[in-house]
Amino acid sequence: MKALLCKEFGTPDKLVLEEIPSPIAEKGKLVITVKACSANFPDTLMIQNLYQFKPPLPFSVGGEVAGVVKEVGESVKQFKVGDKVIALCGWGGFAEEVVVDARRCVPLPPDMEFAVGASLLYNYGTSYHALKDRAELKQGETLLVLGAAGGVGLAAVELGKVMGAKVIAAASSEEKLAICKAKGADFTINYTHEDLREKIKEITDGKGVDVVYDPIGDRYAEPALRSVAWKGRYLVVGFAAGEIPKIPLNLALLKGCTIVGVFWGSFTEKEAQTSGQNLMDLAKFYLEGKIKPHIYKKYSLSDAPQALFDLMNRKVIGKAIVMMDLPMDMPTISHQTPSEKEILGYTQTAQGIIFSNSTVLKSFKGKVLGVSDWQIVSQEMINDFAKATLDFQWIHLDAERAKKESPFKQTIAHGFLTLSLTPQFMYQMMKIESAKMSINYGSNKVRFINPVPSGSRIRMKAVLKDVEDIVGGVKIFTEATIELEGAEKPACVAELISVVYE
Ligand SMILES: NC(=O)c1ccc[n+]([C@@H]2O[C@H](COP(=O)([O-])OP(=O)(O)OC[C@H]3O[C@@H](n4cnc5c(N)ncnc54)[C@H](OP(=O)(O)O)[C@@H]3O)[C@@H](O)[C@H]2O)c1
Repeated sequence: MKALLCKEFGTPDKLVLEEIPSPIAEKGKLVITVKACSANFPDTLMIQNLYQFKPPLPFSVGGEVAGVVKEVGESVKQFKVGDKVIALCGWGGFAEEVVVDARRCVPLPPDMEFAVGASLLYNYGTSYHALKDRAELKQGETLLVLGAAGGVGLAAVELGKVMGAKVIAAASSEEKLAICKAKGADFTINYTHEDLREKIKEITDGKGVDVVYDPIGDRYAEPALRSVAWKGRYLVVGFAAGEIPKIPLNLALLKGCTIVGVFWGSFTEKEAQTSGQNLMDLAKFYLEGKIKPHIYKKYSLSDAPQALFDLMNRKVIGKAIVMMDLPMDMPTISHQTPSEKEILGYTQTAQGIIFSNSTVLKSFKGKVLGVSDWQIVSQEMINDFAKATLDFQWIHLDAERAKKESPFKQTIAHGFLTLSLTPQFMYQMMKIESAKMSINYGSNKVRFINPVPSGSRIRMKAVLKDVEDIVGGVKIFTEATIELEGAEKPACVAELISVVYE
């Protein structure tokens, strides 16, 4: 059988399609001929060795499949060869066959397509458990869904409506929000350019939302928590946007609200009966036409790495599905080699690093941003700076006197002239594509170490120290060293603060 294997940890382009032996159904297990397997966010983490479950190499990702029972292990009574099933296999589904514990399989409801079967349990199971069991969402309450066009997000939008809530869907593009609307969202917020808190205030007449469903975390979490109504519930579902946010606990006190963890995988094991009942409810909702997975795109097995890239690049709306009956290219992967930016969110160019947005920039914390071009500090520049600042000291301007009296034997640049070149240097090192406006906000802890003689060359080297969220953007802290050509000691070191609005 063919399987898409992770043989070394890395990005999806490292996965390889290979012919391997079929699995065997041991006691209590089923071998399933996979017809459809969905791509889920944890798959993107597992191949990078960033997920809590770490199967031994080599392995295939793909934790949710629909297919046909090919072989039944000893003591399995509830299934027979030829049955159509849905299975939560954890991993192994990006293959023509997978072996699964029979207890992790349920019959595929009659008339349900394999693609739908492989899209139902994980997203709707998670969101139903979150809204019903953890938030106890009530009819008429207001539900805010972040990452609302993602897999679990879109399921939460639909289920929120089924449960009678007023749903506010928040996502990053108009295309995504249009799908959320079509799925029943009453209000939408585009958090790329709208202020989450202000919009929620406007929509709820200042009351706030009763329940927040948060699968993305990072910079969106705190403004969402600040928008919770009295006795609201904040559902911690995931951190797809990157950082696990650190929340000031006084917010929970002030709002009398509850911050609730959601872990559907553990719930299905620890509370199997309730989970089983939930799945029955979901099958019923599906058969009544109340919920329907939105399938973004179907991929062949050889194209499955592209499905993972599409998830990582926030392209997928709803669900990406790998279909085994779509023609494959053997033996090599046929998808276009992704660019550095598609993988990492930034590109290293001759004009500096280009970051897609500030979220990507955050992942760069602690790293060297680069080195700027050399800049000659001419006497003309020094004269202009003197005029602009009304600082006419002879040590900067009078070459004859400096030659005789200055310890440096020639004129030197004003310290703040050197520092004033930082926006130029920074721009040579980095750009943020999503920036609408950037301000050189100021500097901290400046030390002028070595005077810069007129005519000498300086350049900047910078390390990204921190990126802090502010309303509408981020504040960036950079550790900058202004080097003086030929000198051992730098001209100046400083912590620079910039503000970028997106
Ligand atoms: N707790 C549980 O039991 C449980 C169960 C299932 C899933 N999860 C977690 O829930 C999260 C979402 O899963 P999912 O399957 O819905 O994923 P998904 O389909 O990829 O959706 C994630 C959404 O997050 C948003 N996002 C913001 N920044 C992002 C970034 N840097 N990279 C990727 N997406 C980003 C995107 O929407 P915008 O572009 O609109 O911002 C995207 O649609 C994951 O962290 C997953 O591990 C938890």
